[in-house]
Amino acid sequence: MAIHDIVLLGDPILRREAEEVTVFDDELRMLVRDMFETMYHAEGIGLAAPQIGLSKRIIVVDLRLQEDEELPQSTAVVNPVVVWSSDDTEKQTEGCLSIPGLEEFVWRPVSVRVEGKDPEGNDVVVEAHELFARALQHEIDHVNGILFLDRVSPLKRKMLLKKWKKMEAEGE
Ligand code: NI
Repeated sequence: MAIHDIVLLGDPILRREAEEVTVFDDELRMLVRDMFETMYHAEGIGLAAPQIGLSKRIIVVDLRLQEDEELPQSTAVVNPVVVWSSDDTEKQTEGCLSIPGLEEFVWRPVSVRVEGKDPEGNDVVVEAHELFARALQHEIDHVNGILFLDRVSPLKRKMLLKKWKKMEAEGE
């Protein structure tokens, strides 16, 4: 297994619509394992393939860092699609491994149903609520070239980008 470098804001791959996965082989399963390793190493709760520089529709989520055994662990979805989302929305703070140091409140549906494939190529349906639903939506945004910055008000976005530029200049 290998820990990959995480691509940061400014890399065009984060803005690209990632490609559908069509081959479910050992290479894909190895990649998914690497994504989990990379996510655990970075102490994140979710990661999408574009964040390690691969334009593929693959996401992994694991909420165990929240130290709640009830929360889902080791969820990998290939070609994930949100097929239903609740009318109920809520705002919570979000961050992103590709934009370290920035956090902001983001409104999202409380519950979603996600369809896709597991790394073996079997159909999967994931029903998710609250933090799990939020993490899935955040990662699915990534494979569509969307960042949480796009889901905050223009004023907030401007402030966050200003902060990012300042941190970059300071070499953090
Ligand atoms: Ni992210």
